[in-house]
Amino acid sequence: MILCANPKEQYLSHKDEIKLAIDKVLESGWYILGQEVKAFEKEFANFVGVKYSIGVASGTDAIFLSLKALDIGTGDEVITVSHTATATVSAIEATGAKAIFVDVEEEYFTMDVSKIEEVITDKTKAIIPVHIYGHPCDMNKLQKISKENNLYLIEDCAQASGAKYEDKDVGSMGDLGCFSFFPTKNLGALGDGGAITTNSKELYEKLLMLRQYGWDKNRESKFQGYNSRLDEIQAAVLRVKLKYLKQDIEKRNKVASLYYKYLKDTDFILPKVKDSCYHAYHLFVIKTDNRDKVLKFLEENNIMAMIHYDKAVHMNEAYKIYSNLSITEKIINNILSLPLYPELKNEDIKQISNLCINYKSLKE
Ligand SMILES: Cc1ncc(COP(=O)(O)O)c(C=O)c1O
Repeated sequence: MILCANPKEQYLSHKDEIKLAIDKVLESGWYILGQEVKAFEKEFANFVGVKYSIGVASGTDAIFLSLKALDIGTGDEVITVSHTATATVSAIEATGAKAIFVDVEEEYFTMDVSKIEEVITDKTKAIIPVHIYGHPCDMNKLQKISKENNLYLIEDCAQASGAKYEDKDVGSMGDLGCFSFFPTKNLGALGDGGAITTNSKELYEKLLMLRQYGWDKNRESKFQGYNSRLDEIQAAVLRVKLKYLKQDIEKRNKVASLYYKYLKDTDFILPKVKDSCYHAYHLFVIKTDNRDKVLKFLEENNIMAMIHYDKAVHMNEAYKIYSNLSITEKIINNILSLPLYPELKNEDIKQISNLCINYKSLKE
């Protein structure tokens, strides 16, 4: 079976180094918030090109704690997209704030920034653009809109570690950047993990406290905090994988370029990339009116393709927020994510592409 994402292959690529790193932590006897987390935070901040990063327990927590650090909660509104992982919205709503959705651009899947100003109210406190699938949002316009309307800008970079907008890394252009290290992500741990990036010393110091009960150095709670710590083993694993992240993103781009090559001149609509963007290809999402049949045909041939996502967040029972999102509701019917991970072989990409094409010729 060729999987859609393959964290085990990633592990096997660096097995010896990862085992050594884990063993070092086990032998140290220090398992929570120690030297590995500190070193990872420094290295990750350098990678993203910001002054600070804070390791937390997940990408969801990264968003939740970012909002908390900005004192956003009950009575506030946060603008985001519904074409995203549920986590983006659950983190907003968990603070007590209300998620307000804007539609996405049909060709790029990212937030349609031209729709933002019509939903800004006097309750709006922040915008959370999602660099979905690894394609950066239009950050110049987002920075301008946030500045003009006095709103915080929090980047959801969960799917986009390693992506760039005009040569700047995602996570370096908003007030805060939120990353997930879920095992299948571009930078994946061997369990849950996340990080927040920022250039603000004040937010950095507040977030260090918020992730641990709001404690200051004397273990006095200065804020109503939370427990969301990145553990030492995950940090040690992430430090190994971070060394290869740039190269892994290049490999992801190589896989994508082969899909473009093999699937060009077909009826599949292939993902488009804006000139200003370096795509991190967390996912390679094509569009087809015959999505369910293609998916089934691939599955019959031991290829696992997936749908990200077959329901927009506002269509879920728990988040039935009234929204006018015609593009979001349209694309969920024909998107299909083909397998993509750095270790995927050329012959596999060719086989997957051929199966897609063969399916089409069989059908005709
Ligand atoms: C866009 C987006 N935001 C947030 C998250 C949440 O990350 P985590 O699963 O680490 O909590 C995810 C992960 O699925 C995601 O894809």
